[in-house]
Amino acid sequence: MAIESTLSIIKPDAVENNKIGAILNLIEEAGLKIRAMRMLKMNPEVAGGFYAVHKERPFFGELVEFMSRGPVVVSVLEGENAVAKYREIMGATNPAEAAEGTIRKLYASSIGENAVHGSDSLENAKIGIAYFFPESEIG
Ligand code: CMP
Repeated sequence: MAIESTLSIIKPDAVENNKIGAILNLIEEAGLKIRAMRMLKMNPEVAGGFYAVHKERPFFGELVEFMSRGPVVVSVLEGENAVAKYREIMGATNPAEAAEGTIRKLYASSIGENAVHGSDSLENAKIGIAYFFPESEIG
């Protein structure tokens, strides 16, 4: 299997709830390597740019407001099959549908405030990593 890189964002709700360490622990326990990390607060333009693919969706405004309301932790995760592996440990987008033991089952409160983001494809991982780590050669 190929070694891949994927983008993780620990969202404002999880940062507010003091879950950065718990989430990073689940990531490392799953065997993913943290190759780069940055804590930052997005303004609405940055959040909207990252989620531009969703700009026609009815929840876009709510998503941008939420993602820019406080600090987030963005990181590059590396490992075998990292894109799919991280999505597996995140759990379903809606925490009500997330499997037991997943990050969203443990720490998310709703489909909007769902604790973490992870790239949904290798192509989007490359785009996301370049968005937050433009100077990095990782990815
Ligand atoms: P994420 O994986 O970061 O990608 C897009 C985000 O949009 C998603 O997680 C959710 O937080 C958010 N989202 C998806 N569907 C809805 C919805 N129906 N209402 C509010 N937010 C949503």
